[in-house]
Amino acid sequence: ARIRRYKWEVKYEYKSPDCYKKLVITINGKSPGPTILAQEGDTVIVEVTNKLLLENLAIHWHGIRQIGTPWSDGTEGVTQCPVVPGDTFKYEFKVDRAGTYLYHAHYGMQRESGLYGSIRVSVRDNFTEPFAYDYDRSIILTDWYHKSTNEQATGLSSKPFVWVGEPQSLLIQGKGKFNCSSSSLTADTCNTSNPECSPYAITVIPRKTYRLRVASLTALSALSFQIEGHNMTVVEADGHYVEPFVVKNLFIYSGETYSVLIKADQDPSRNYWMTTNVVSRTPVNTSEGLGFLNYYPNHPRRSPPTVAPAGPIWNDTAPRLNQSLAIKAHHDFIVTPPTTSDRVIVFLNTQNEINGYRRWSVNNVSFTLPHTPYLIALKKKLHYVFSQTPPPEGYDFVNYNIYVQNPNATTTSNAIYRLGFNTTVDIILQNANTMLPSNSETHPWHLHGHDFWVLGYGEGKFDMNKDPKKYNLLNPIMKNTVPLHPYGWTALRFKADNPGAWLFHCHIDSHFYMGMGVVFEEGINKVGELPSSIMGCGETKGFGKP
Ligand code: C2O
Ligand code: CU
Repeated sequence: ARIRRYKWEVKYEYKSPDCYKKLVITINGKSPGPTILAQEGDTVIVEVTNKLLLENLAIHWHGIRQIGTPWSDGTEGVTQCPVVPGDTFKYEFKVDRAGTYLYHAHYGMQRESGLYGSIRVSVRDNFTEPFAYDYDRSIILTDWYHKSTNEQATGLSSKPFVWVGEPQSLLIQGKGKFNCSSSSLTADTCNTSNPECSPYAITVIPRKTYRLRVASLTALSALSFQIEGHNMTVVEADGHYVEPFVVKNLFIYSGETYSVLIKADQDPSRNYWMTTNVVSRTPVNTSEGLGFLNYYPNHPRRSPPTVAPAGPIWNDTAPRLNQSLAIKAHHDFIVTPPTTSDRVIVFLNTQNEINGYRRWSVNNVSFTLPHTPYLIALKKKLHYVFSQTPPPEGYDFVNYNIYVQNPNATTTSNAIYRLGFNTTVDIILQNANTMLPSNSETHPWHLHGHDFWVLGYGEGKFDMNKDPKKYNLLNPIMKNTVPLHPYGWTALRFKADNPGAWLFHCHIDSHFYMGMGVVFEEGINKVGELPSSIMGCGETKGFGKP
């Protein structure tokens, strides 16, 4: 095993990812940042210097479980104090499993300013993957706003509430195309001939097979991704091998990663469109994401001779639920889940108002982060820094109507769920109506520090007596991010076997910011000595740097 060292400088720079010029957070001058390439078993060391001048930061290694290094998870308020301007912070962790992962900012809503990138962990020497390909490529899909993240966050926490709205465009590997003529913008602010926003192109050699690692880090949007004239065979999801299945549209939610195989077997005299569209929300003026599948030796900037194909119908939930249901563990790589669980926690997802402030809640509790990170507070037994009243394990299953707006009184809390070490925990995510009549959203839930088995999805209200009988205990896929579909439920199981404090939250930036998350603690007494570099804020001021 090797050590992979990176030195990153994080700063604001003017960039035009979708032809519109704005301040973007870059790593060593780039957004998306550099791809971390490593092999299973390697140690990754990233030294990050915060040159944002006026803003803190923290970077999370999404999908890396941080076994034995919970302090390197990069979750501000949960596992560390923020890295203040001028400081350098060292992340060090082991990539213990091959697969496709991500990194991104985990401080407020900073991720959507452009601080993100890919982690690609290759397999051990002499290990054969259950599929073959000639070349390996990665892309990240994001949505993009022209308003600054600070302005968006301020609006979300204002009274009256100012919603961020739909994104202006979708980016494929940091490139998109906003229609500059749609508003009165000067050529200096918005210029569609700026090479910075030329479509992202993946060059392929005719007849070769490509493994395309597709990830989503959208702030809000659920996406569909497609390549004109090419089918995609799904072979990996969140670092786990999938029993292969073929799709034309790949539905992907924020925080998910997939590997798909594509064969360059079409007419090689031209290029093809890669497109991404918003699904599950009314697409109001969001420019679709466009890229090229460039057949060598055609010019990578040459537009395909066709009109970019339209994506699937945005409000058709059935094909998305079907894709979720189609994802099973590859038959040679099944990790069987424990057949029973020690604890079942149901999480009702609702949108509410608290004292006139718009919030998202889980079991009518809207989450807030304490000033002292949980990991430190728990380890040092600073129990006064967060609420010690355990949060609810469920909601009123009998009387609650998930199809209407939530009339319940909601509170904010920073209390956490304490799990018995090595116990098996089931989580049932239950969707419901938002504050709009006849409206329910898609929420991608992401768990830090673990992978979970996806035991099932269903429509309507989860039935404690009937639905567990339908769980897939034979070949469930393991993932770290999973969608909760509108008015539906999703059932997960995981082993609380990784000592630390771990966030579990909706991966939509604004939803987590508005309280849609919880924290789990397990085996805190087994956590090794905490590095002093994670301290310095809240009640840990004296513990940190001098
Ligand atoms: Cu990718 Cu807590 O997030
Ligand atoms: Cu959400």
